[in-house]
Amino acid sequence: MDIFTLSSLVIITISCILLWKKKSSSGFNLPPGPPSLPIIGNLHQIIGKSLSHTIMNMSQKYGPIILLHFGSQPFVVISSSKLATQAFQTHDNVLCNRPYSRNLKRLAFNYNDIVFSPYDDHYKHMRKTLVVDFLNSRMTKSFKKVLDSELKRLIDSLPFDKEVHFDKMISNFMVDYVCKIVAGKSYGDVTLGGKKLIDMLHEMAILFSGSFSEMFPSVGWVLEDLSGWTRRVDNHMTNFDALIGKMIDEHIDHTNADEKDLIDVCKSSLTREEMKAIMTNVFNGSVDTSYLTLVWVMSMLVKNPRVMHKLQAEIRSHSGKKPRLDETDTAKMMYLKNVIKETLRLHGPSPFLITRHCVEHIQIGGYDILPGTNVLICSRGIAKDPTVWTENVNEFYPERFENRVVDQFDMTPFGGGRRSCPGFNLATSTLEVVVANLFNNIDWKPPNGMRNEDLDVEEDEEGSLLVAKKTPLYLVPVKHNSQA
Ligand code: HEM
Repeated sequence: MDIFTLSSLVIITISCILLWKKKSSSGFNLPPGPPSLPIIGNLHQIIGKSLSHTIMNMSQKYGPIILLHFGSQPFVVISSSKLATQAFQTHDNVLCNRPYSRNLKRLAFNYNDIVFSPYDDHYKHMRKTLVVDFLNSRMTKSFKKVLDSELKRLIDSLPFDKEVHFDKMISNFMVDYVCKIVAGKSYGDVTLGGKKLIDMLHEMAILFSGSFSEMFPSVGWVLEDLSGWTRRVDNHMTNFDALIGKMIDEHIDHTNADEKDLIDVCKSSLTREEMKAIMTNVFNGSVDTSYLTLVWVMSMLVKNPRVMHKLQAEIRSHSGKKPRLDETDTAKMMYLKNVIKETLRLHGPSPFLITRHCVEHIQIGGYDILPGTNVLICSRGIAKDPTVWTENVNEFYPERFENRVVDQFDMTPFGGGRRSCPGFNLATSTLEVVVANLFNNIDWKPPNGMRNEDLDVEEDEEGSLLVAKKTPLYLVPVKHNSQA
């Protein structure tokens, strides 16, 4: 036995004894979980792996609530609908904070934002501004016009019978649409520091996904400085701040109530720093989440022609002679709604909700959760909870939603409780309208004679908050002849 193996065995044995002693002497009934090592905790069991798959495997062994340590920080991970209900209903007031870290503070414009801000008066003011002033019915009516004109541009530019890089096409589409509702015009082609807005948003999803200061609050900053992470965050924030600042500086005030954008509605009530933070939340909240979901919808449909043909039939039976479909059309398309729900169940872009920070001693599932513990809700685990989803849980089968009442926490792609996603309605209606238009007069097939069922749908979760498809999606659009 070499010296490395011997010392690893000694460390593992000592940590098991320490952990056992700590548990039995604490007097608390802490959730079960795999043994952790000193200093790094359970990091060796998760680094370089798909976190959601690792957690779901651990849950099969330890149950739907487990205790892990990421560095020095305790994390309780919940992956069942029943326990998520307890977290969001009984303990929402104790779990509505986010953990603090130097990394998040920098990325969240000094916590001027909504997503990572502590649950305080400033947070409530910012969330109210987003929900009441931006996501109200008058504003969302004007977003529909923007969406319609962007859809026209997208469909008119499709190279029929030729391969398209669907991810690229649909992410550019989402960037243009969101830029227009945020800043009145598109900034999709502007490059700063060699990066476009879409590249900056991808980078942000990586930077938000966790760093040393979240795992080692007292010394993490040293590791961040030494590893180059701080420089990476600074470079990113310099470019991103400049781009968002440019949007504010170049903004033209819209006097017409039908054309207002986010900058118009928050200019008078927010500081410049708060405006940058709220714009960042809308960009981060809308672009990557929506375009990744659209890539998954298209992938799952093309891979499952039975579902695709049934959806096409529904869309085309409601479309009449309209060139483009809107929300009044999609309101009648029940199968379309189920297709989107099923895609979010299997491939929701956020397999975990954004981390909550427990501020009081509570109990979930009979286990003690102590103040200072971070709580991660595994929405992917909930979406496959065998006590809720009993039949062919891994199959793409939108019919499972027919004649079924889905309880609030049976699936949680948009989170739950008071920190749930405020963009839920805008996001789902946008997804429905885009998919309806992509299939109204268009058929889609895989390139180079590939069989539909051979389309690859492997996930890539490493190093980002969001799950993407591992390989890019290439598809061939074909004009559908409605007379045929
Ligand atoms: C498919 C699209 C979307 C998905 C899957 C999604 C998902 C999520 C999830 C999982 C959370 C965390 C909830 C929690 O911690 O319980 C969240 C929070 C949030 N989302 Fe979304 N989102 C989407 C679209 C949007 C849109 C369109 C906006 C804005 C217009 C938005 C803005 C936000 C904000 C501001 C938060 C933070 C809420 C808070 O901390 O109070 N999201 N979203």
